Amino acid sequence: MNALDYNTVNVEADGLTCNDVGVWTEAKHRLVAYYAALFSKGMKEKWKRVYIELYAGAGYSHIRDTERVIAGSPIQALKLKVPFDKYIFCEQDPEKLEALRARVRLHAPSADVTFIPGDCDANVDKIAAAIPRYSKTNKVLSLCFVDPNDIGIKFATLQELAKKYVDFIVLLALYTDALRAEKHYIKNPSKIDQLLGTSAWHDRWKTAKQAGSEFPRFLAEEFTASMATMKYIPPPFYSMRKVFFYEKNFPLYAVGLFSRHALAYTLWDKALKGSDDQLGLF
Ligand SMILES: C[S@@+](CC[C@H](N)C(=O)[O-])C[C@H]1O[C@@H](n2cnc3c(N)ncnc32)[C@H](O)[C@@H]1O
Repeated sequence: MNALDYNTVNVEADGLTCNDVGVWTEAKHRLVAYYAALFSKGMKEKWKRVYIELYAGAGYSHIRDTERVIAGSPIQALKLKVPFDKYIFCEQDPEKLEALRARVRLHAPSADVTFIPGDCDANVDKIAAAIPRYSKTNKVLSLCFVDPNDIGIKFATLQELAKKYVDFIVLLALYTDALRAEKHYIKNPSKIDQLLGTSAWHDRWKTAKQAGSEFPRFLAEEFTASMATMKYIPPPFYSMRKVFFYEKNFPLYAVGLFSRHALAYTLWDKALKGSDDQLGLF
């Protein structure tokens, strides 16, 4: 892909609320926009393509300790050179959702966008219902970006969406949340149980810890195994992009692709290479 198949969308503060983010967020955006561009262009001939965000945010992000405001992932996806046919954005914070609506009107007034207010888990039926019906003459393929602030993804929500043809890009807050709170989650495992859709990991972690495993990698591999129960091809841990707080060389989270088709992983490799840069990624 020509790297310019996705646009860097330049925006200015508009007085509406923003996501408050670290500078590393640009690395996440670049990877997701790059992959979304490859996906949308690559699947254009055969599929009606739908882009979904379960945790959509406000549309613009303010980079902490700076004056900079950048376009969030929903706006970047709307501004691809080969856009998706439809977009679905869920956001639970009403002020952020209103800001997102206003920014979508500004940047992509004619795009087909469904906004779902509220909690993505409670509203998964509405999200699924907004995906156009699949038929032999109208093949629908979705790309769903799952980008929460913490490890609070619910596997049951992904299971519901996975009844349709949906690929996922999932941000796993392995280091910012799970590692920092490892002791807490061992004592209060319900959040991890919901992430993995099982409590069977408790005993496996005891064995893995004794063998010297690290909690973040263990969790990523458990999540991958849960996705594999729905026939998602298990991506190896190294293929998940680790995003770093580069000034301190401190890992924050991992971003992984989950698809049932090998071709998607070929595109993911291209996106990993094409979106790489000097901002502390490897
Ligand atoms: C990391 S931000 C998303 C940023 C966006 N993907 C971007 O890069 O521009 C996460 C967002 O999820 C929202 N959120 C948190 N829990 C949620 C839930 N259960 N359902 C829907 N939205 C949620 C938060 O209000 C926040 O705006």
